[in-house]
Amino acid sequence: MTNDPFSQFKAGQREAWALFSPMATFTTPPAATLVEFAAVRESDKVLDVACGTGVVAVTAALRGANTRGLDLSPVLLEDAAANAATVGLSIEFLEGDAEALPYDDGTFDVVLSQFGHMFAPRPELATAEMLRVLRPGGTIAFSTWPPDLMIGSIFSLLGRYLPGPTNAAPPSQWGDPNIVRQRLGDAVKDVQFQYDDMVMPALSPKHYLAHMERTAGPVIKLVQTLKDEPGRLTQFRAEMELLIARFFSHNRVRQTFLMTRATKC
Ligand SMILES: C[S@@+](CC[C@H](N)C(=O)[O-])C[C@H]1O[C@@H](n2cnc3c(N)ncnc32)[C@H](O)[C@@H]1O
Repeated sequence: MTNDPFSQFKAGQREAWALFSPMATFTTPPAATLVEFAAVRESDKVLDVACGTGVVAVTAALRGANTRGLDLSPVLLEDAAANAATVGLSIEFLEGDAEALPYDDGTFDVVLSQFGHMFAPRPELATAEMLRVLRPGGTIAFSTWPPDLMIGSIFSLLGRYLPGPTNAAPPSQWGDPNIVRQRLGDAVKDVQFQYDDMVMPALSPKHYLAHMERTAGPVIKLVQTLKDEPGRLTQFRAEMELLIARFFSHNRVRQTFLMTRATKC
């Protein structure tokens, strides 16, 4: 086992995200929104970073793009390959890390990430890598969770109970347009932002929380960590329910996300 805290963190993430597949039903509609927003064209070479079950990669491939996908979790990649096979597509899915992409410089016309690269703990590395594998004039586009809305607030709550490695950037910083502009810097031009909603059906905030505890990597990890501290676990669940209730109405949980698109200089 390595002593590098970032490698240890990623090993934990790799394990915790393995149960994400049922959640991909809900990330499927936003995948079409992102592919549209990025204006993916037939024959474009497209990379889906942190692809999970491949919802973005398959959506782009169904538009005729030549798509590849990469993720930390081999379990999710098996589902991604099955999703591609269902529509007779052969997409190369690789196990790998957004902070060290196994592709040559300038390989892709479009680099996408939906709720994915934001989990890499060192945004400067993930940004540099995504821009490196993109050709000049190509499009980088991603969807992320704003810090002040539901999923961003959940990240803050999780961070209070289970901090990541020192110097790891909180994922929701990627949902702040000012920080996004700063991170992309002058490597890009024509930065555009757009908000949209991911709506999840749920009978109550408690039902939604139970679903997260079965499928959402960081929540699964925290609940495991608190298994011998029932008092803190109860407190965490109570705080989560209150937070979710702010975004719950008519059996729906509304999760607003930010899309960013830019052109590499
Ligand atoms: C919320 S899921 C999103 C999956 C998919 N993009 C979607 O929209 O359904 C987050 C994904 O990020 C992946 N991930 C987390 N950290 C990563 C890293 N450093 N490099 C590559 N993938 C990573 C997880 O394995 C997981 O599949």
